[in-house]
Amino acid sequence: MDLESRDLISMNDLSREEIDEILDKVPEVRNHPHKRLLCKDKVAALLFFEPSTRTRTSFEVAMRNLGGIVGGFYDANITSVVKEESLWDTVKMHDGYGFHIMVIRHPLKGAARLAAEAAQVPVINAGDGPNQHPTQTLLDLYSIRETQGKIDGITIAMVGDLANGRTVHSLTEALLKYESCNLIFISPRDLSMPRFLIDKCKKATAGTGVSFSEGSRIEDYISEVDILYMTRIQKERLKERTAAEKFRSIYRLEAAMLKDAKPHMKVMHPLPRVTEIAQDVDSTPYAYYFQQARNGLFVRETLLALILGAIK
Ligand code: CP
Repeated sequence: MDLESRDLISMNDLSREEIDEILDKVPEVRNHPHKRLLCKDKVAALLFFEPSTRTRTSFEVAMRNLGGIVGGFYDANITSVVKEESLWDTVKMHDGYGFHIMVIRHPLKGAARLAAEAAQVPVINAGDGPNQHPTQTLLDLYSIRETQGKIDGITIAMVGDLANGRTVHSLTEALLKYESCNLIFISPRDLSMPRFLIDKCKKATAGTGVSFSEGSRIEDYISEVDILYMTRIQKERLKERTAAEKFRSIYRLEAAMLKDAKPHMKVMHPLPRVTEIAQDVDSTPYAYYFQQARNGLFVRETLLALILGAIK
C-alpha cells in the first residue's frame, strides 16, 4: 500500500486491503519510538467551515504528536469567506503558503472533492455535508475490529437520522467491501437510508454475501446485534427544525433496554450525542463511544503519517 500524497475524500477511494493495512499500522504509529520526528516540520492546514470538536481537535493533537504543526481556521466567519471568497480560492491561498496537507470540513456535499482538485497537496475530507466522513469510518472500523476481533460477518444496527448522517453513509460503503456483514437500518421513514445506498446493498448481497434490512424500533434488534451504532438527528440539515424534536423522542437508548444484549455487544456513536443515548448507558459494559472517539486520535495519526510519507 502506498498512501503517500493521496487524497482521502470517500471510502470508495480505498480498497478493503488498503483499509485493513491502515488499521494494521495503527499500533506501529501509536507506539513508534521516534513518533515526534515522524512529521517534523510538516504543516497541516485545518480548514473547518463547520463546527467540530472531535475531528478538529484529534487532527490537531495527532499532528502535534507526530512533531508537526497546524494552521488554518476553525470558523469561516472570521475569514474572507464572509467577503464571498470562493472555496476554490480559499484552498488555492492555503496551497500557496506551503502547507503539506489540508484537512477540510464543509457543509456542502462535494466540497472536499473540489478542494482536492484545487490543491496541489493531499486533501483529507473531514466531512462534506451529508455525504461522507471517511476518517470517522476508519476509526469506526478500527473500533469494531478492536471490540469484535473482526469486521467480516458482524451484525450492526445503524440507528437515527440515516438520511442526513454522513458517518452512516461512509460506514455502509465501507462494510459493503467486507464479507457477509448483516446491516440493519433503523430510522423513521422520513430519515431512512438514501435509496442509492440501499441499491448498493442489494447489489452487494449477491457479491459479498451482505444482508440488510430496514426497521423502525431499536428494541426489535438489540439482542441480535454486535454493534449498535447510534446517531443523532442532524437538526442543522433538516428543513423543518421542529421535526428534530419529534424524531428525538422516538429514538432514545436507555440502560434498561440492554438487558438482552449479547455480552460482547458495543454501543457506538460518532458523537456528539444529544438525547439518543441516556447517560445511564455510559456506566454499562456496552458503552464504547468515548473509547471510539479516542481511537480517532490514533487512526488520524496513522493516516497523517502515511499520507505525509513518514511511514510506508
Ligand atoms: N464525529 C465527529 O465528526 O465529531 P465532530 O463533529 O465533533 O468532529
